[in-house]
Amino acid sequence: MLYRSLGILLLGAGSTLWSSFASAQESMHGMMMPMMRAETIKAPLLPHGAVLQEIAKLANQSKQANLFKADVIAAPVETEFVAGKKTTVWAYNGSVPGSLIEVNEGDTVEIRFINQLPQPTTIHWHGLPIPPEQDGNPMDPVLPGTEHSYRFTLPEGSAGTYWYHPHPHEYTAEQVYKGLAAPFIVRAKNDPLKNIPERNLMISDLKLNSDATIANNDGNDWMNGREGQFVLVNGQYQPVVEVKGTERWRIWNATSARYLNLSLGGRKFTLVGADGGLLEKPVRDLQKLLLAPAERAEIIVDATGQEGNVSLVAEPYNRGKMGHVAAEKSINIAAVSLLAGQSIAIPDTLRKIDDLGEAKATKKMVFSEAMSMANGQHSMLFLINGKSFDMHRVDFTSRIHETELWEIVNNSDMDHPFHIHGTQFQVVETELNGIRTPAPYKAWKDTVNARPGETVRIKMRQDFPGLRMLHCHILEHEVQGMMAIQLVE
Ligand code: C2O
Ligand code: CU
Ligand code: CU
Repeated sequence: MLYRSLGILLLGAGSTLWSSFASAQESMHGMMMPMMRAETIKAPLLPHGAVLQEIAKLANQSKQANLFKADVIAAPVETEFVAGKKTTVWAYNGSVPGSLIEVNEGDTVEIRFINQLPQPTTIHWHGLPIPPEQDGNPMDPVLPGTEHSYRFTLPEGSAGTYWYHPHPHEYTAEQVYKGLAAPFIVRAKNDPLKNIPERNLMISDLKLNSDATIANNDGNDWMNGREGQFVLVNGQYQPVVEVKGTERWRIWNATSARYLNLSLGGRKFTLVGADGGLLEKPVRDLQKLLLAPAERAEIIVDATGQEGNVSLVAEPYNRGKMGHVAAEKSINIAAVSLLAGQSIAIPDTLRKIDDLGEAKATKKMVFSEAMSMANGQHSMLFLINGKSFDMHRVDFTSRIHETELWEIVNNSDMDHPFHIHGTQFQVVETELNGIRTPAPYKAWKDTVNARPGETVRIKMRQDFPGLRMLHCHILEHEVQGMMAIQLVE
């Protein structure tokens, strides 16, 4: 990649250096683009107010117990977001989001994947504890017009809320914003909340040109991460949800870069699950929940006693965007009517989460941003430990089955969500301005946000040998080099 060999100039606090280049022209991925000016596109009108639809489940073609078998096809398809105008999206099995894969702990999953895209791609099974060679690494591309089978077995204790999306070298952001992302649920043998009706809310982002085609990333998108004019739930714009009594919601932040600072009109809800399944104990009486890109949560909404018509809103969150960007504003995601109904109690203990034990090794992973000025061209670099991603370089070496303490350091002016493949970790504490805050509750996570200047300490263990990716899950940053490789041996 072009910028790997370029000279690097570190950015100081406040990014004043950056703003002085605000109008520079830059070529990236062969395109000339204005670096900082967000192109203001006159957005077409999207219909809203329809009843929220469920995401269709992928049918199991296997007759064998404990085996889930299906085909997944990635292909361009035409859809109609705007009445009378065609939008070509890239979809898994023809829909955006793609179909839900729902399996049970202990199941073996066999997916025959057919790539009908004009680009190489992979399927990455975000968050699942599976061998690296089945996990859709960029080193294992599925070329256009070819197919590939993925096979893995999901162990006891892996029940949770996951997703799958492409992970090819250089094209991940584009393929996801064109529509390739889908939910994956692993169900528990014994689920303490199984009597509560469930609802899936996969939140994604859509940026359209005025003719309703999917917009390319502009310079601002490459810098701050892409945010479109529309936030969708299950592929729908501002749908209507009716909640009668108690419901369990699984929520995915499947956007490229948007932080979802969720609220429900001041109504209270209970957090019961994170990326890797249920918490040890419910966290009650919440009114806000921040989901960084790629994070998931399970919440319980009990409408009884707090009836009324409210909105599911993403409230403003300042994530330190660079350049001259519009002020953050509230975004209505869905209209929710809360109706009295059967109230279902949540037990005080949801499951046991064992501590990962004493760490045998320590790793330090530093996110930073830098300005490159090579060849008279200005471009931003997004780095891990001072380096841009290199597919042929190992950045961290870890021992299999050994608990490690990782320090995730954000040495930049923007929030970056850290994600690692193949395992779930435990947040120990965060440290900001010298103040250490222990994790407020026990949870399994595969993605955690790091604010500017913050250090997040996590404990983790990898249980398969091979190469794992770790990266910022703002997908534009991942594509531009904020990714590294862990070798587990
Ligand atoms: Cu959700 Cu490496 O990705
Ligand atoms: Cu992942
Ligand atoms: Cu980032």
